[in-house]
Amino acid sequence: MAPSSSPTTPISKGRVLIVGATGFMGKFVTEASISTAHPTYLLIRPGPLISSKAATIKTFQEKGAIVIYGVVNNKEFVEMILKKYEIDTVISAIGAESLLDQLTLVEAMKSIKTIKRFLPSEFGHDVDRADPVEPGLAMYKQKRLVRRVIEESGVPYTYICCNSIASWPYYDNCHPSQLPPPLDQLHIYGHGNVKAYFVDGYDIGKFTMKVVDDERTINKSVHFRPSTNCYSMNELASLWENKIARKIPRAIVSEDDLLGIAAENCIPESVVASITHDIFINGCQVNFKIDGIHDVEISTLYPGESFRSLEDCFESFVAMAADKIHKGENGVTGGTKALVEPVPITASC
Ligand SMILES: NC(=O)c1ccc[n+]([C@@H]2O[C@H](COP(=O)([O-])OP(=O)(O)OC[C@H]3O[C@@H](n4cnc5c(N)ncnc54)[C@H](OP(=O)(O)O)[C@@H]3O)[C@@H](O)[C@H]2O)c1
Repeated sequence: MAPSSSPTTPISKGRVLIVGATGFMGKFVTEASISTAHPTYLLIRPGPLISSKAATIKTFQEKGAIVIYGVVNNKEFVEMILKKYEIDTVISAIGAESLLDQLTLVEAMKSIKTIKRFLPSEFGHDVDRADPVEPGLAMYKQKRLVRRVIEESGVPYTYICCNSIASWPYYDNCHPSQLPPPLDQLHIYGHGNVKAYFVDGYDIGKFTMKVVDDERTINKSVHFRPSTNCYSMNELASLWENKIARKIPRAIVSEDDLLGIAAENCIPESVVASITHDIFINGCQVNFKIDGIHDVEISTLYPGESFRSLEDCFESFVAMAADKIHKGENGVTGGTKALVEPVPITASC
Protein backbone atom coordinates (compact mmCIF):
# COMPACT_ATOMS: atom_id res chain seq x y z
CA MET A 1 0.00 0.00 0.00
CA ALA A 2 1.32 3.48 -0.85
CA PRO A 3 2.23 5.54 2.21
CA SER A 4 -0.39 8.16 2.95
CA SER A 5 0.77 11.71 3.58
CA SER A 6 -0.23 13.33 6.86
CA PRO A 7 -0.77 17.10 7.19
CA THR A 8 2.67 17.36 8.80
CA THR A 9 4.48 15.67 5.91
CA PRO A 10 6.43 18.33 4.01
CA ILE A 11 5.17 18.58 0.46
CA SER A 12 8.09 18.06 -1.85
CA LYS A 13 8.22 20.78 -4.47
CA GLY A 14 9.39 20.26 -8.02
CA ARG A 15 13.01 20.92 -8.92
CA VAL A 16 13.44 24.17 -10.81
CA LEU A 17 16.25 25.09 -13.19
CA ILE A 18 16.58 28.83 -13.81
CA VAL A 19 18.48 30.29 -16.76
CA GLY A 20 19.32 34.01 -16.46
CA ALA A 21 19.20 34.06 -12.65
CA THR A 22 21.71 36.91 -12.44
CA GLY A 23 19.61 39.18 -14.65
CA PHE A 24 17.09 41.86 -13.73
CA MET A 25 14.00 39.64 -14.01
CA GLY A 26 15.82 36.40 -13.16
CA LYS A 27 16.73 37.66 -9.70
CA PHE A 28 13.08 38.12 -8.72
CA VAL A 29 12.18 34.65 -9.95
CA THR A 30 15.18 33.02 -8.26
CA GLU A 31 14.41 34.70 -4.93
CA ALA A 32 10.84 33.44 -5.14
CA SER A 33 11.85 29.92 -6.16
CA ILE A 34 14.22 29.62 -3.20
CA SER A 35 11.78 31.18 -0.74
CA THR A 36 8.97 28.83 -1.79
CA ALA A 37 11.23 25.85 -1.00
CA HIS A 38 11.62 24.64 -4.56
CA PRO A 39 14.98 22.90 -4.95
CA THR A 40 16.54 25.60 -7.15
CA TYR A 41 19.31 25.07 -9.70
CA LEU A 42 20.91 27.98 -11.53
CA LEU A 43 22.54 27.60 -14.93
CA ILE A 44 25.29 30.21 -15.00
CA ARG A 45 27.50 31.02 -17.97
CA PRO A 46 31.14 30.25 -17.22
CA GLY A 47 33.64 33.07 -17.53
CA PRO A 48 34.61 36.20 -15.66
CA LEU A 49 31.80 37.72 -13.62
CA ILE A 50 31.44 41.33 -12.60
CA SER A 51 31.52 41.67 -8.83
CA SER A 52 27.81 42.45 -8.46
CA LYS A 53 26.86 39.25 -10.35
CA ALA A 54 29.35 37.19 -8.34
CA ALA A 55 27.78 38.61 -5.16
CA THR A 56 24.28 37.76 -6.41
CA ILE A 57 25.30 34.17 -7.11
CA LYS A 58 26.96 33.84 -3.71
CA THR A 59 23.81 35.12 -1.97
CA PHE A 60 21.66 32.63 -3.84
CA GLN A 61 24.06 29.80 -2.99
CA GLU A 62 23.99 30.76 0.68
CA LYS A 63 20.20 30.53 0.53
CA GLY A 64 20.42 27.00 -0.87
CA ALA A 65 20.52 27.36 -4.66
CA ILE A 66 22.79 24.97 -6.54
CA VAL A 67 24.92 26.54 -9.24
CA ILE A 68 25.70 24.68 -12.45
CA TYR A 69 28.20 26.31 -14.79
CA GLY A 70 27.51 25.84 -18.48
CA VAL A 71 25.89 27.24 -21.61
CA VAL A 72 22.28 26.93 -22.59
CA ASN A 73 22.93 26.43 -26.32
CA ASN A 74 24.70 23.08 -25.93
CA LYS A 75 21.97 20.45 -26.32
CA GLU A 76 23.93 17.45 -24.98
CA PHE A 77 25.07 19.39 -21.93
CA VAL A 78 21.55 20.64 -21.17
CA GLU A 79 20.10 17.14 -21.59
CA MET A 80 22.73 15.81 -19.23
CA ILE A 81 21.97 18.32 -16.45
CA LEU A 82 18.20 18.02 -16.83
CA LYS A 83 18.52 14.27 -16.30
CA LYS A 84 21.25 14.35 -13.66
CA TYR A 85 19.41 16.85 -11.44
CA GLU A 86 15.95 15.42 -12.25
CA ILE A 87 14.63 18.86 -13.17
CA ASP A 88 10.83 19.23 -13.30
CA THR A 89 10.49 22.87 -14.31
CA VAL A 90 12.69 25.10 -16.42
CA ILE A 91 12.34 28.88 -16.17
CA SER A 92 14.21 31.09 -18.58
CA ALA A 93 14.79 34.78 -17.89
CA ILE A 94 17.48 35.00 -20.52
CA GLY A 95 18.24 38.48 -21.81
CA ALA A 96 16.81 39.91 -25.02
CA GLU A 97 20.06 39.45 -26.95
CA SER A 98 20.06 35.65 -26.38
CA LEU A 99 16.38 34.73 -26.85
CA LEU A 100 17.06 32.30 -29.70
CA ASP A 101 19.49 30.31 -27.53
CA GLN A 102 16.28 28.99 -25.95
CA LEU A 103 15.63 26.94 -29.10
CA THR A 104 18.39 24.52 -28.07
CA LEU A 105 16.93 24.39 -24.59
CA VAL A 106 13.55 23.41 -26.05
CA GLU A 107 15.18 20.70 -28.18
CA ALA A 108 16.87 19.27 -25.08
CA MET A 109 13.62 19.30 -23.07
CA LYS A 110 11.76 17.70 -25.97
CA SER A 111 14.23 14.85 -26.23
CA ILE A 112 14.33 13.96 -22.53
CA LYS A 113 10.48 14.10 -22.25
CA THR A 114 10.33 14.49 -18.45
CA ILE A 115 9.98 18.26 -18.11
CA LYS A 116 6.63 19.14 -16.53
CA ARG A 117 6.73 22.85 -17.39
CA PHE A 118 8.76 25.38 -19.32
CA LEU A 119 8.44 29.12 -18.79
CA PRO A 120 10.37 30.86 -21.58
CA SER A 121 11.82 34.34 -21.28
CA GLU A 122 8.65 36.39 -21.67
CA PHE A 123 7.89 38.50 -18.57
CA GLY A 124 6.29 41.36 -20.46
CA HIS A 125 3.51 41.64 -23.02
CA ASP A 126 1.51 39.05 -24.87
CA VAL A 127 3.84 39.05 -27.86
CA ASP A 128 1.26 37.46 -30.16
CA ARG A 129 -1.08 40.40 -29.59
CA ALA A 130 1.26 43.35 -29.01
CA ASP A 131 2.49 45.02 -32.15
CA PRO A 132 5.41 47.39 -31.58
CA VAL A 133 7.28 49.06 -34.41
CA GLU A 134 10.89 48.05 -35.07
CA PRO A 135 13.23 47.38 -33.40
CA GLY A 136 10.91 46.13 -30.62
CA LEU A 137 9.13 44.05 -33.25
CA ALA A 138 12.31 42.09 -34.03
CA MET A 139 12.55 41.06 -30.38
CA TYR A 140 8.86 40.10 -30.34
CA LYS A 141 9.33 38.04 -33.50
CA GLN A 142 12.03 36.07 -31.70
CA LYS A 143 9.76 35.54 -28.67
CA ARG A 144 6.96 34.46 -31.04
CA LEU A 145 9.28 31.98 -32.77
CA VAL A 146 10.29 30.51 -29.40
CA ARG A 147 6.57 30.15 -28.56
CA ARG A 148 5.83 28.28 -31.81
CA VAL A 149 8.78 25.91 -31.32
CA ILE A 150 7.68 25.17 -27.73
CA GLU A 151 4.08 24.52 -28.82
CA GLU A 152 5.31 22.18 -31.55
CA SER A 153 7.64 20.36 -29.12
CA GLY A 154 4.88 19.11 -26.83
CA VAL A 155 6.72 20.37 -23.71
CA PRO A 156 4.07 21.80 -21.33
CA TYR A 157 4.52 25.57 -21.07
CA THR A 158 3.24 28.78 -19.50
CA TYR A 159 3.79 32.30 -20.80
CA ILE A 160 4.09 34.96 -18.09
CA CYS A 161 2.58 38.20 -19.42
CA CYS A 162 3.28 40.37 -16.38
CA ASN A 163 3.12 43.73 -18.21
CA SER A 164 5.31 46.59 -16.91
CA ILE A 165 7.57 46.59 -13.89
CA ALA A 166 6.36 48.93 -11.12
CA SER A 167 8.33 52.13 -11.69
CA TRP A 168 8.41 55.33 -13.70
CA PRO A 169 8.41 54.05 -17.31
CA TYR A 170 11.47 55.83 -18.72
CA TYR A 171 11.40 55.55 -22.53
CA ASP A 172 15.15 54.94 -22.68
CA ASN A 173 15.85 52.55 -19.79
CA CYS A 174 15.38 48.75 -19.88
CA HIS A 175 15.33 48.42 -16.08
CA PRO A 176 13.45 51.49 -14.84
CA SER A 177 12.63 50.13 -11.39
CA GLN A 178 16.25 50.66 -10.42
CA LEU A 179 15.68 54.43 -10.64
CA PRO A 180 13.23 56.69 -8.82
CA PRO A 181 10.84 58.72 -10.97
CA PRO A 182 12.21 62.06 -12.24
CA LEU A 183 12.39 65.15 -10.05
CA ASP A 184 13.09 67.72 -12.75
CA GLN A 185 10.60 66.93 -15.51
CA LEU A 186 7.92 64.30 -16.07
CA HIS A 187 7.66 62.98 -19.61
CA ILE A 188 4.08 62.23 -20.57
CA TYR A 189 3.63 60.01 -23.62
CA GLY A 190 0.99 61.35 -26.02
CA HIS A 191 -2.12 62.64 -24.24
CA GLY A 192 -1.13 60.59 -21.21
CA ASN A 193 -4.46 58.87 -20.66
CA VAL A 194 -3.72 55.36 -21.95
CA LYS A 195 -3.54 52.90 -19.06
CA ALA A 196 -0.98 50.22 -18.29
CA TYR A 197 -0.27 47.73 -15.49
CA PHE A 198 2.75 48.24 -13.23
CA VAL A 199 3.68 45.15 -11.19
CA ASP A 200 6.27 44.94 -8.44
CA GLY A 201 9.24 42.67 -9.22
CA TYR A 202 8.70 40.74 -5.99
CA ASP A 203 5.14 39.92 -7.09
CA ILE A 204 6.31 38.89 -10.56
CA GLY A 205 8.58 36.34 -8.88
CA LYS A 206 6.00 35.25 -6.33
CA PHE A 207 3.15 34.69 -8.79
CA THR A 208 5.46 33.07 -11.34
CA MET A 209 6.30 30.43 -8.74
CA LYS A 210 2.61 29.89 -7.92
CA VAL A 211 1.93 29.37 -11.61
CA VAL A 212 4.58 26.67 -12.10
CA ASP A 213 2.82 24.45 -9.56
CA ASP A 214 -0.66 25.15 -10.88
CA GLU A 215 -2.17 22.71 -13.37
CA ARG A 216 -4.71 25.34 -14.45
CA THR A 217 -1.93 27.28 -16.15
CA ILE A 218 -0.57 24.48 -18.34
CA ASN A 219 -0.27 25.67 -21.94
CA LYS A 220 -1.70 29.09 -21.13
CA SER A 221 -0.69 32.72 -21.15
CA VAL A 222 -1.07 34.14 -17.66
CA HIS A 223 -1.87 37.85 -17.69
CA PHE A 224 -1.07 40.08 -14.71
CA ARG A 225 -3.74 42.79 -14.50
CA PRO A 226 -4.05 43.81 -10.83
CA SER A 227 -6.65 46.56 -10.59
CA THR A 228 -4.64 48.44 -7.92
CA ASN A 229 -1.75 48.79 -10.37
CA CYS A 230 -3.47 50.18 -13.46
CA TYR A 231 -2.39 53.76 -14.16
CA SER A 232 -2.11 56.21 -17.04
CA MET A 233 0.95 58.47 -17.38
CA ASN A 234 -1.06 61.42 -16.07
CA GLU A 235 -2.16 59.40 -13.04
CA LEU A 236 1.37 58.16 -12.48
CA ALA A 237 2.67 61.74 -12.57
CA SER A 238 0.07 62.83 -10.02
CA LEU A 239 0.88 59.84 -7.82
CA TRP A 240 4.56 60.80 -7.78
CA GLU A 241 3.84 64.49 -7.17
CA ASN A 242 1.62 63.55 -4.25
CA LYS A 243 4.27 61.26 -2.82
CA ILE A 244 6.95 63.94 -2.83
CA ALA A 245 4.55 66.81 -2.17
CA ARG A 246 5.96 68.78 -5.04
CA LYS A 247 4.75 69.88 -8.47
CA ILE A 248 7.03 68.86 -11.33
CA PRO A 249 6.84 70.34 -14.83
CA ARG A 250 5.35 67.97 -17.38
CA ALA A 251 6.57 67.70 -20.96
CA ILE A 252 4.79 65.84 -23.71
CA VAL A 253 6.75 63.21 -25.60
CA SER A 254 4.62 62.78 -28.69
CA GLU A 255 3.93 59.68 -30.73
CA ASP A 256 6.26 61.07 -33.42
CA ASP A 257 9.02 61.66 -30.85
CA LEU A 258 8.85 58.02 -29.73
CA LEU A 259 8.73 56.75 -33.32
CA GLY A 260 11.73 58.95 -34.16
CA ILE A 261 13.80 57.47 -31.31
CA ALA A 262 12.73 53.97 -32.33
CA ALA A 263 13.77 54.68 -35.95
CA GLU A 264 17.30 55.61 -34.82
CA ASN A 265 17.74 51.88 -34.17
CA CYS A 266 20.11 52.28 -31.23
CA ILE A 267 19.98 49.09 -29.17
CA PRO A 268 18.59 48.87 -26.54
CA GLU A 269 17.24 52.47 -26.31
CA SER A 270 15.23 52.23 -29.55
CA VAL A 271 13.73 48.89 -28.45
CA VAL A 272 12.52 50.55 -25.24
CA ALA A 273 11.14 53.55 -27.17
CA SER A 274 9.21 51.29 -29.57
CA ILE A 275 7.71 49.31 -26.69
CA THR A 276 6.91 52.54 -24.82
CA HIS A 277 5.06 53.65 -27.95
CA ASP A 278 3.15 50.37 -28.06
CA ILE A 279 2.14 50.66 -24.39
CA PHE A 280 1.23 54.33 -24.06
CA ILE A 281 0.10 55.22 -27.60
CA ASN A 282 -1.33 51.92 -28.92
CA GLY A 283 -2.53 50.68 -25.52
CA CYS A 284 -1.10 47.18 -26.06
CA GLN A 285 -1.68 46.13 -22.43
CA VAL A 286 -5.36 47.06 -22.34
CA ASN A 287 -6.66 46.85 -25.91
CA PHE A 288 -7.78 43.22 -25.72
CA LYS A 289 -10.01 41.06 -23.53
CA ILE A 290 -8.64 38.04 -21.74
CA ASP A 291 -11.16 35.57 -23.03
CA GLY A 292 -9.26 33.10 -25.16
CA ILE A 293 -9.15 29.45 -24.11
CA HIS A 294 -5.39 29.79 -23.74
CA ASP A 295 -5.56 32.90 -21.55
CA VAL A 296 -6.06 33.36 -17.84
CA GLU A 297 -5.86 36.42 -15.58
CA ILE A 298 -3.82 35.88 -12.45
CA SER A 299 -6.33 37.42 -10.01
CA THR A 300 -8.96 34.90 -11.08
CA LEU A 301 -6.56 32.09 -10.16
CA TYR A 302 -5.66 33.48 -6.74
CA PRO A 303 -8.51 35.77 -5.67
CA GLY A 304 -7.34 35.83 -2.03
CA GLU A 305 -3.85 37.08 -2.89
CA SER A 306 -3.15 40.77 -3.21
CA PHE A 307 -0.48 42.55 -5.21
CA ARG A 308 1.75 45.23 -3.76
CA SER A 309 0.04 48.45 -4.80
CA LEU A 310 1.76 51.04 -6.96
CA GLU A 311 1.09 53.55 -4.17
CA ASP A 312 3.25 51.43 -1.91
CA CYS A 313 5.94 50.85 -4.54
CA PHE A 314 6.25 54.60 -5.12
CA GLU A 315 6.70 55.07 -1.37
CA SER A 316 10.02 53.22 -1.71
CA PHE A 317 11.07 55.56 -4.52
CA VAL A 318 10.74 58.56 -2.18
CA ALA A 319 13.76 57.37 -0.19
CA MET A 320 15.68 56.71 -3.41
CA ALA A 321 14.83 60.20 -4.69
CA ALA A 322 15.91 61.80 -1.42
CA ASP A 323 19.22 60.03 -1.86
CA LYS A 324 19.59 61.49 -5.36
CA ILE A 325 18.89 64.97 -4.04
CA HIS A 326 21.63 64.52 -1.43
CA LYS A 327 24.01 63.59 -4.22
CA GLY A 328 22.91 66.64 -6.26
CA GLU A 329 21.74 64.50 -9.19
CA ASN A 330 18.86 65.18 -11.57
CA GLY A 331 19.48 68.93 -11.60
CA VAL A 332 17.67 69.18 -8.28
CA THR A 333 19.20 71.02 -5.38
CA GLY A 334 18.09 72.07 -1.96
CA GLY A 335 18.38 68.91 0.15
CA THR A 336 15.36 66.84 1.16
CA LYS A 337 13.41 69.78 2.59
CA ALA A 338 10.94 69.83 -0.27
CA LEU A 339 10.29 66.13 0.21
CA VAL A 340 9.23 66.54 3.79
CA GLU A 341 7.37 69.84 3.63
CA PRO A 342 3.99 69.07 2.07
CA VAL A 343 2.59 71.60 -0.41
CA PRO A 344 -0.90 71.44 -1.91
CA ILE A 345 -1.07 69.54 -5.19
CA THR A 346 -3.87 69.89 -7.70
CA ALA A 347 -4.52 66.90 -9.84
CA SER A 348 -4.01 67.76 -13.48
CA CYS A 349 -5.93 64.86 -14.94
N1 LIG B 1 8.15 43.65 -18.04
C1 LIG B 1 9.21 44.39 -17.94
O1 LIG B 1 9.12 45.55 -17.52
C2 LIG B 1 10.56 43.82 -18.30
C3 LIG B 1 11.71 44.54 -18.01
C4 LIG B 1 12.94 43.97 -18.34
C5 LIG B 1 13.01 42.73 -18.97
N2 LIG B 1 11.87 42.06 -19.27
C6 LIG B 1 11.94 40.74 -19.94
O2 LIG B 1 12.54 39.84 -19.01
C7 LIG B 1 13.38 38.90 -19.70
C8 LIG B 1 14.79 38.97 -19.10
O3 LIG B 1 15.34 40.24 -19.40
P1 LIG B 1 16.33 40.99 -18.38
O4 LIG B 1 16.31 42.42 -18.76
O5 LIG B 1 16.01 40.59 -16.99
O6 LIG B 1 17.73 40.38 -18.81
P2 LIG B 1 19.16 40.81 -18.26
O7 LIG B 1 19.08 41.66 -17.07
O8 LIG B 1 19.92 41.30 -19.45
O9 LIG B 1 19.77 39.41 -17.81
C9 LIG B 1 19.92 38.38 -18.72
C10 LIG B 1 20.31 37.10 -18.00
O10 LIG B 1 20.41 36.08 -19.01
C11 LIG B 1 21.69 35.48 -18.90
N3 LIG B 1 22.09 35.04 -20.24
C12 LIG B 1 22.15 35.78 -21.35
N4 LIG B 1 22.52 35.03 -22.39
C13 LIG B 1 22.69 33.77 -21.91
C14 LIG B 1 23.05 32.54 -22.49
N5 LIG B 1 23.31 32.44 -23.79
N6 LIG B 1 23.13 31.46 -21.69
C15 LIG B 1 22.86 31.55 -20.36
N7 LIG B 1 22.49 32.69 -19.76
C16 LIG B 1 22.42 33.79 -20.52
C17 LIG B 1 22.60 36.54 -18.33
O11 LIG B 1 23.71 35.90 -17.77
P3 LIG B 1 25.14 36.59 -17.60
O12 LIG B 1 25.19 36.95 -16.15
O13 LIG B 1 26.10 35.50 -17.97
O14 LIG B 1 25.20 37.76 -18.52
C18 LIG B 1 21.66 37.17 -17.30
O15 LIG B 1 21.61 36.40 -16.14
C19 LIG B 1 13.35 39.29 -21.18
O16 LIG B 1 12.43 38.45 -21.84
C20 LIG B 1 12.85 40.71 -21.17
O17 LIG B 1 12.15 41.05 -22.35
C21 LIG B 1 10.67 42.58 -18.95
